[in-house]
Amino acid sequence: MNVSDSEKIVTLMKGIGYRQTADAGEADLVLLNTCSIRATAEQRVYGHLGKFKAMKKGKPGLIIGVGGCVAQQEGEKLLKKAPFVNLVFGTHNLHLLQKMVTAAEAGKRSIETDFLDDEKRFDLFPHAESEGGITRFVTVMQGCDNFCAYCIVPHVRGREISRSAAKVVEEVTALAAAGVTEVTLLGQNVNSYGFREPGEPDFADLLRLVAQVDGVERIRFTTSHPKDISPRLIECFAQIPKLAPHIHLPAQSGSDRVLKRMNRGYTGAEYLAKVAALKGACPGIQITGDMIVGFPGEDEAAFQETLALMEEVRYADLFSFIYSARPGTKAAEYSDEVTRAEKQGRLERLQVIQKKTTLQRNESMVGSVQRVLVEGPSSSGDSLFGRTGGNRGTVMPGDPSLAGRVLEVSIVEGLQTILKGEILHA
Ligand code: 5AD
Ligand code: SF4
Repeated sequence: MNVSDSEKIVTLMKGIGYRQTADAGEADLVLLNTCSIRATAEQRVYGHLGKFKAMKKGKPGLIIGVGGCVAQQEGEKLLKKAPFVNLVFGTHNLHLLQKMVTAAEAGKRSIETDFLDDEKRFDLFPHAESEGGITRFVTVMQGCDNFCAYCIVPHVRGREISRSAAKVVEEVTALAAAGVTEVTLLGQNVNSYGFREPGEPDFADLLRLVAQVDGVERIRFTTSHPKDISPRLIECFAQIPKLAPHIHLPAQSGSDRVLKRMNRGYTGAEYLAKVAALKGACPGIQITGDMIVGFPGEDEAAFQETLALMEEVRYADLFSFIYSARPGTKAAEYSDEVTRAEKQGRLERLQVIQKKTTLQRNESMVGSVQRVLVEGPSSSGDSLFGRTGGNRGTVMPGDPSLAGRVLEVSIVEGLQTILKGEILHA
């Protein structure tokens, strides 16, 4: 979501005469888009700000802005704490950014962190530039009503607001016309997309509408909440050929007791039943997830249940995090914190197991033929990089002019973080 917001910020700034630079030392304007999901992400913001403060000493005209979730959370405090900051914009205020930067050019500091209500929902979804790119994000909803006990997102992104299906299709059509091959529909909880009124599309309907746009060859979406995955959505994997066979489906824990305390709205068995239904509808679907270790009250037995769930799902990849208490969340009030050493130990054990599964799964793909969307040259520059439908990164020899094409690739090697392949026919 932050990457997507940053793209929109760049588009907005181009609209008032700025252009992007890769060298911060060259910049006249620095906009820091921040994340507060865990304490470490938040701490990093202050590190960056220190660096920009030093830069401003040598360049007093430098405009510095802070946006995103930390800005939303800190608001006025940030302006006070950091007198060298010119503007602070929250998660609902991108549409005001051009005005705020123009004011800063005239020497005025400003702050905008109000949440928008339903009436002004359209302001929440400024278009990113339609030109260029092979794979692009399209925001379909923002915010979250779930209030998982550990999570700061509902506090800093506000309530769920969906974008109209017509606007989503319009943006996808513009991207397709500009040559984009793949779109990822984006939202904090895309499965609860929709206006929930008779005749209004839900997320499964939206996928079908987007699939009708000519030119787009592959559709992805993120992120899904297990409790909101409907049978209608699961059917989409069987029925929409453009829908990539991959789902990011965070479980967060395998223990029913912990899941309940997390306020996740499902049990381990219910999660596994959805996974089984997805595998039934789409054999070969790649499942990735998120897991938190050391949530308050998680004991060794509960942690073992997480490992057992992982064993059953066999994730293609898993993002795992040490629980971090966030201000204002329910779990921050829980007193049974797990010790730092236990959290660290569990994370390491979990990651060792996942690494093995990932490697085994990658190795088992050797000999298969995958449809790979070529994104461009690989990081080493001497081959091409692309992704399978299941979202596995793949490198293969080939001509850079193949970027943007979906090609049949024979997998010849499965490594820990990447597959190696050979293009069958271009
Ligand atoms: N501590 C640790 N991890 C968290 N996540 C969200 N909030 C926290 C927190 N307080 C993780 C969840 C979520 C992912 C984006 O970040 O796993 O799915
Ligand atoms: Fe956070 Fe839960 Fe909402 Fe995901 S569903 S953004 S974890 S509150």
